[in-house]
Amino acid sequence: MSKLDIKDLNLSGKRVFVRCDFNVPLDENQNITDDKRIRAALPTVKYALEASAIVILASHLGRPKGEVKEKLRLGLVAKRLSELLGKKVKKLDDCIGPEVDAAVGEAKPGDIILLENLRFHPEEEKNDPEFSKKLAHLADVYVNDAFGTAHRAHASTEGITHFLKSAAGFLMQKEIEYLSKIMKNPDKPYVAILGGAKVSDKIAVIDNLMERVDAFLIGGGMAYTFLKAKGIEIGASIVEEGKIEVAKNILDKAQSKNIKIILPQDHLAAEKIEEGVQIAYIDSPQIPDGLRGADIGPKTVKDFKSALSGAKTILWNGPLGVFEIKGFEKGTREIAVFIASLDVTSIIGGGDTAAAIAKFGLEDKMTHVSTGGGACLEFLEGKQLPGIAALTDKN
Ligand code: 3PG
Repeated sequence: MSKLDIKDLNLSGKRVFVRCDFNVPLDENQNITDDKRIRAALPTVKYALEASAIVILASHLGRPKGEVKEKLRLGLVAKRLSELLGKKVKKLDDCIGPEVDAAVGEAKPGDIILLENLRFHPEEEKNDPEFSKKLAHLADVYVNDAFGTAHRAHASTEGITHFLKSAAGFLMQKEIEYLSKIMKNPDKPYVAILGGAKVSDKIAVIDNLMERVDAFLIGGGMAYTFLKAKGIEIGASIVEEGKIEVAKNILDKAQSKNIKIILPQDHLAAEKIEEGVQIAYIDSPQIPDGLRGADIGPKTVKDFKSALSGAKTILWNGPLGVFEIKGFEKGTREIAVFIASLDVTSIIGGGDTAAAIAKFGLEDKMTHVSTGGGACLEFLEGKQLPGIAALTDKN
């Protein structure tokens, strides 16, 4: 990597500001439903503690839009982090100000402090230089381990780097390493599985991958726009009418480049997509009037498996059906289980796909499950992420 990493820094006795992405999902009872992002930060946090640094952690949680929202305080995260580290994490009630200065001033090497939600201050998302300076003033060096937020040019991800020597943490490094490998020199054959609701979210990724992959397997809601682009009736399934032309162009371009695009040949469908509805098996690409496709069917699963079985690299971004609802998770699950059984480099784009893999208990069977949702997508689009670009160059 051309950027400094945490091992390039002398941390002994230093105050290190570590930007993490502790934006974890919470249920209605304020329980953390998936602590993957907290666990993913542990290698960096432990390394800094062992190096005798004073560790100052910072994150956002949710989108409080510059106001204090009680439900988005980071106390729950501090508690979980303490449990995982087996060590007290001192959680502060703000991320700047005299009380924060005092707490940091009193801290000793080996202590760990978690600042309050950065987004309680509107200046964070505005990347306000004065706010960045106040954050920077808390520390001697900066480490960014928040890959999931690297696509945001905010005060704690970009602005702060103008004031402190800035390095990547271990999670950030790992994400960059795996995602760069599949963008630059993937082992071939390389198959990309794309799903999720909308084609519009994936157009730039498809464009960028078109130069690299051997086949696209398309499922999820976006598949219906592609089927419609081929003149196939899709009943009441979700469709982006405004993207049908784009889908046609993608199909044409892939054909001209000899890249396979495999679309669903059968479906599970229902009148409404909700728990407990009657599910119809549709044994054709066409879906009858009044029915909505909500999962790929067994023939499609078979087609996808046969396309995946020779692959050396698999990238998967977007679920293949409405996996959150019982009855419509089968396609996503079967493909996940199949990939887990292969001897292949399997890279799972974050967000919903990562949530599906976690739900099926297969995280450890994949080569890499990204902690980034939007950040992962933008990386795959070939964009430069401001949180990475801003880190100090090695030379
Ligand atoms: C995410 O969950 O994708 C990151 O934490 C970024 O959150 P944001 O989309 O609210 O900036």
